[in-house]
Amino acid sequence: MNDTEDTSNTSNNRTFEDVLSAHLSRRQILIGGLAGAALTFVGPSMARAERGVVATSRTGAFVGARKKARIAFTSIPLQASAMPTIAPEYEYSVLIPWREKLDGSGDAFPYAGFTSAQQAESIGIGHDGMWFFGSNKEGLMCINHEYGTFPHLNGKKVPASLEDVLLSQHAHGMSVVKIAKKGQKWKVVNSTQNRRIHANTPVKFSGPAANSDLLKNAAGNPTLGTINNCANGYTPWGTYLTCEENFNGYFGSTVSTWSPNSIQTRYGITAAGFGYEWHKWDSRFDLANPAYANEANRFGWVVEVDPTKPKAAPVKRTALGRIKHEGACVAVGQGNRAVVYMGDDERFDYIYKFVSTGDWKKMVAAGKSPLDEGTLYVARFNEDGTGDWLELSPKNSALSSWKLEDILVYTRLAADAVGATKMDRPEWITLGANGELYCTLTNNSQRGTAGRAGTNTANPQTGNAWGHIIRWKDTDKHLGESFSWSIFALSTEVTDAGGQMYGSPDGIWADPDGRIFVQTDGDQPGKNNDQMLVASAVGKEFKRLFTGVKGCEVTGVAVTPDRKTMFVNLQHPGDGNPANSNFPEAFTGATGPVPRDCTIVITRKNGGVIGS
Ligand code: FEO
Ligand code: CA
Ligand code: CA
Repeated sequence: MNDTEDTSNTSNNRTFEDVLSAHLSRRQILIGGLAGAALTFVGPSMARAERGVVATSRTGAFVGARKKARIAFTSIPLQASAMPTIAPEYEYSVLIPWREKLDGSGDAFPYAGFTSAQQAESIGIGHDGMWFFGSNKEGLMCINHEYGTFPHLNGKKVPASLEDVLLSQHAHGMSVVKIAKKGQKWKVVNSTQNRRIHANTPVKFSGPAANSDLLKNAAGNPTLGTINNCANGYTPWGTYLTCEENFNGYFGSTVSTWSPNSIQTRYGITAAGFGYEWHKWDSRFDLANPAYANEANRFGWVVEVDPTKPKAAPVKRTALGRIKHEGACVAVGQGNRAVVYMGDDERFDYIYKFVSTGDWKKMVAAGKSPLDEGTLYVARFNEDGTGDWLELSPKNSALSSWKLEDILVYTRLAADAVGATKMDRPEWITLGANGELYCTLTNNSQRGTAGRAGTNTANPQTGNAWGHIIRWKDTDKHLGESFSWSIFALSTEVTDAGGQMYGSPDGIWADPDGRIFVQTDGDQPGKNNDQMLVASAVGKEFKRLFTGVKGCEVTGVAVTPDRKTMFVNLQHPGDGNPANSNFPEAFTGATGPVPRDCTIVITRKNGGVIGS
């Protein structure tokens, strides 16, 4: 999703007193659903990390990939068509479009008369982050369904009934689906492991905040669902992580006098929401309903799913904090610690890392989740190319009066209090071939504008329209509390014969050979379509491998173990409008079929590794 809402980190690093006042008002929060809390943060004040900041050099003592990867295909031009294009050495096919049944028949439910019950048994909409667990021939695909453009309501702009809302809710979440290569084509296979998880699926909380009062609602209302599932992660113990991003937009108020308090505002919650209007038909999403006073606190988490256990409830891992989680990149650190890097996608929000307390293998063997016990940090990028991971726990003097469970539910406010660096919308993070991390900073039109945070060396562009990619390397194999960083590429610096190659980087994945796959979501040079490029970590060569269709976003990346098959997604092709695209059907125009979100299976014609 290309988030165009107003930023919520408007108060330019609250003072600790602000946060403390919010903290001390928790009793009101518990009884009043925040409504009467009357908290106000003081106005803009210069952040400690930003005071006196001048954009200088970009010279971190960075050590990244050592050898330039082979990227030998023919780079293709940008385009603005209703159909995708791919480099001539490559080809693609289509897999799991929206509404395809999970039964392996290959059939899809028809668009006309599509019901919420049918949606709960078929592929959702808004294909985004994904991972493939299997062999080169078959396995389980876990795929997120982030959000829906208008067709998810059978063509209506807003729901006109609870059934319409249920249809929308069931289109969200994720799918687990067994796929196999039959001849040259990948297809869905009927399996007891195929399942849909959506906004009404029972879920569990785990970790230090699992029993927090801030996650409880009146009368023990059950914990249900996951929404706006954006990017993802996967763990060395074989589970999938689906990340809840813009959850705020699904909530709204049926009471005209209702307004959000400052904590809700920090999470972007408003009376109107994004226009989904679920709250008008489903009181769980009505901010003014006291029986669901804390419902919004139940979203904004990293959710763990074991794809091999179709009956198991997804688990929201509270130790990883509550933000607008873009993705969760898992690395194995010193001593086999599980380390998770995470971006919070909003203008002026932060980059986080979690480190498990122990060796993940020993924790799993002892029946403990490595994602339940550990330390959460937020990043400060210093001007000299060094950085610090600032601990988000009561051990940090800036948070000494907080309870850990409150830090984990109101993580954005805790990160404000410790002086993290406000970034230009952190999207995906990936682990490079030599232990370095890459994060896409998609854009930030408000950087350096009146009343907003100015530039710094990590976010060096005023009104950053096109975005950039930053990279860093932690000391002590991911466990250290310091790192060195540099900018991998400003989008404006990456050019070919056609001019600037891309903007709004979002999805990113590094392969073990030193290739960096970059996917885009948003404005592209010349108003062309979103795309996927392949870059070399060394030398910064960029080539364009794939372009999507008009109105779409290219997002999500997964590979088979041999990396000779890659899966990527076309999200919201044509923005749902057949006048723009009928993909995956051939383009026949406005009277043609409604376009469907789908997965694109990419292979090299000579059977080579993708990106080569
Ligand atoms: Fe769902 Fe930040 O992209
Ligand atoms: Ca985006
Ligand atoms: Ca994204």
